Order: sequence, then C-alpha cells, then structure tokens
Amino acid sequence: MTPAARLLAWFDRNGRDLPWRDTRDPYRILVSEMMLQQTQVSRVLVFYRRWLERFPDWQTLAKADNATVIRAWSGLGYNRRALMLRDIARQIVGNPPAPKYQLPGTEAEWLELKGVGPYTSAALAAFSLHERTMPVDTNVRRVLGRLLLGIPFPSPKQDDRIKKAADEFLPERGRYYDVPQALFDLATVVCKKTPNCAVCPMRSLCPAAPKFLSGKVRVPKRSVAKTNESRHRNKLHPDRIYRGRILKLAGRPGGFPLARLGEAIDPGYDGALDRAWIAAMVSRLVADKLARLSRGRVSLPR
Ligand code: ADE
Repeated sequence: MTPAARLLAWFDRNGRDLPWRDTRDPYRILVSEMMLQQTQVSRVLVFYRRWLERFPDWQTLAKADNATVIRAWSGLGYNRRALMLRDIARQIVGNPPAPKYQLPGTEAEWLELKGVGPYTSAALAAFSLHERTMPVDTNVRRVLGRLLLGIPFPSPKQDDRIKKAADEFLPERGRYYDVPQALFDLATVVCKKTPNCAVCPMRSLCPAAPKFLSGKVRVPKRSVAKTNESRHRNKLHPDRIYRGRILKLAGRPGGFPLARLGEAIDPGYDGALDRAWIAAMVSRLVADKLARLSRGRVSLPR
C-alpha cells in the first residue's frame, strides 16, 4: 500500500462528512475555502449554509452591496474576506453581472483573480477541477512538513519543498483530490500542533513521529500568528474581536454613535485609557472599507 493509499484508507473510516465535500461547484468551494481561512470548521458550518441560502450563486453575490455582505459575514471574523469574496464574484461575472460568463478553467487562471492566492487557487483546482495539486495551508503544511520532511514545526519557508514532496506523495491516478481533504482531517484530529502520534495511521512512515514520541521536541508555546495579533493593554480579547463587535453595532439601522462605542463593546472600557484605541480600530475599519464614519456615527458602507 502506498503512503497516500494508507492515508485514504484512514480517511474512508474517519473522515468528516462536510457539506463542501459533496460538491464540485467552484462557487460553493470558494465560499467554504474563504470561510475556512482562520476559522474553525464548526463555526463555518452554520455560516456556510446561511450564506448559500442568501447568495446561492456568483450572480447573486456579485450584485450584493458592501453592507449586505458585511452583515451576512458578521460573526465569522476577518471581515475583509466578505468583500474579497464578493469582489471575486464580480471579477467572474462582471459588474454589472453579465448573463454569460466564463469560469477559470485551471489553477493558473484562478490565481490570476485578485483576492485568490496560491492556497485558494490550488484548493479550487483540486476540489472543483480535480486537478492533481496540493493546496498548502497551515494544516497541510504541518502534516506534510512532518510526514515528508521530518520537520516537527514547519514554517511557510518550507512550502516549496513541501509542494515538491507532495507531488511524489499524491497518487498518479485515482483519488488524488481526496488527499488534501484527508490531510485536513488528520491535521484536526491526530496531527495537531501537539500530535497524537500513538494513534496516527502514518506513524510508521513519519520521520517526525519518533521525535515527538521520544519527547525530544518541545512544542512552541505560542504560534507566530497569535504573537502578532494586536491586543490593547490587558484586554480580554485581541483587537479583531472588538472590531467584530464594532461592526455588529455599525450594522444597526442608522449606525451607532462613536462616543458610545467603547462602553458598548467592552465592559472594562476606560475613556482615558481606551478612547484612542477605539478611534484607531474604527479608522482601520474605515480604511478597509468595512465601516463609515460620518457625523459622529459609525455605520456600514453602502
Ligand atoms: N480547511 C481548509 N479547507 C478545508 C476543507 N475543505 N475541509 C476542512 N478543513 C479545511
């Protein structure tokens, strides 16, 4: 049995049944992949269904205004993704939407769209076009970096090597498009940041497993992303959580007064220490076109 076949056998028994795995529709796959960037599957499930009811296809989404997509996305976080997704739909169907349009037909064509990076274009190629390619996100990087290169905590610098090694790992024929899905699941239930090598189907093939099992490697305390996240003073949450709360209030009819924002989003708000912090978060939302500030009220852009 090849290493990939072993992984797929595990996937057949243990893989998750996720709604975006039943489809090859590129729209549905793009929605799921944009939502899954930095957001857990359990949270995405609810938003994914709701989004598809609201915006069932490229044309419907392309027609939606900023406030509508920001509202629909609200609660998922990293809200710029909402506008990016809508803008991708506009690139595809045109603005205003044309009745006839052509979808990208290869990974390279997907990559040409603004807002579609190497990971997303590879995911669309693999899951929609069934091209033989490996989308490398943090999860796939971690599993393949360990399994193929023996690096316990691989960084994005290793992505080129991982891509090359993945090309040998992927089966020549058959279910190569299921391999990345299997890797997402292995990453989530077994090959986590602190892996459970003892139960891993790939253990006997994995050069990193002995390093973990012998206790030779130490798990880094904080991921790079978390250290880079900004957090004001000793606030309970990173800023992105408070920005999400600001957007929720901005979405009310008529918006929300800037002067009352602090106490509304943070029970520990202290005007003297926090006013500039609130102003900076609002400025950033405005710069990202996620909010407007006019006559002392924060609202959603049209
Ligand atoms: N993470 C990124 N893409 C995913 C997918 N399609 N399924 C599960 N987790 C994912």
